[in-house]
Amino acid sequence: MNGIFYFSSTGNSLFIAEQIKAGLDGEIRYIPKFTGDLNIYDRVIIVSPIHSFGLPVLVYDFIANMKFSGPIYIVLNHGGMEAFAPYFAYQLCEEKGLNIRSVQTVMMPEIYTLTFSQPKFLINLVLRKAPKRLKPIIAAIRNDKEIIIPKPKRDKWTPKHLENRKNWHMLAGDFRITENCTDCRKCIRICPTGNIKSENGRILFSDKCVACLSCYHRCPEKAIVYLDKRKKDRYINPLIRENNIGADQP
Ligand SMILES: Cc1cc2nc3c(=O)[nH]c(=O)nc-3n(C[C@H](O)[C@H](O)[C@H](O)COP(=O)(O)O)c2cc1C
Ligand code: SF4
Ligand code: SF4
Repeated sequence: MNGIFYFSSTGNSLFIAEQIKAGLDGEIRYIPKFTGDLNIYDRVIIVSPIHSFGLPVLVYDFIANMKFSGPIYIVLNHGGMEAFAPYFAYQLCEEKGLNIRSVQTVMMPEIYTLTFSQPKFLINLVLRKAPKRLKPIIAAIRNDKEIIIPKPKRDKWTPKHLENRKNWHMLAGDFRITENCTDCRKCIRICPTGNIKSENGRILFSDKCVACLSCYHRCPEKAIVYLDKRKKDRYINPLIRENNIGADQP
């Protein structure tokens, strides 16, 4: 059986995981909640966004701690700038002695939009193209095609990734909660690191932020804003059910 492991803030990676399940069968598992034994699976497929030219912290940790000798396939998605994230992921698997078969990438709508807006037509275009772009990716996994990712000649992105990663825990410190907050506590429920709490009706952030932006995009009142910006656009992938983000699909 295929184990399809995903991390996702706004549903782009979940959408890909669901497409893979539709094409190959298997169980969908949400990485931050997984505590089981990987060895019940014949193959492990990891679906993840790219974060700052590399891997989200929780996906990095998941791979670094994997105890699995079977074949592993990674599908990364990004907003248009994959940099050397595929090599970063490939190299991590190699270092850990994992049986990495391929790292593939696909473009999805950009969600790191704290300071700029994505035009709607671009979001729709990328979403429209995604299923077609995923077909050869899924076929390569089905056929166990080996895709070796060569070391880049000059990798100027990975040092930037490692530098940025050091500051992710501080991002939530730049969030402000507006008067629109209803204390519904959804942000508390969806934060993958338990970084948010409510005290006397006030939402407070701690220092375990991994900069995933789930709370920012999915607050129903758009009450989480970045610094003093009052940007209104938020994004949730329209091709999945939002309640399924963070859930398993056996
Ligand atoms: C902290 C952070 C860093 C990101 N860095 C990159 C990046 O380096 N290159 C890129 O193309 N997209 C980047 N993105 C965009 C996401 O990779 C992309 O929108 C992805 O589809 C989000 O998937 P999700 O909804 O499953 O979380 C970043 C997003 C976040 C939250
Ligand atoms: S999800 Fe939004 S409205 Fe709900 S408690 Fe959090 S900040 Fe407030
Ligand atoms: S505080 Fe928000 S951005 Fe930070 S990890 Fe939690 S959900 Fe993600």
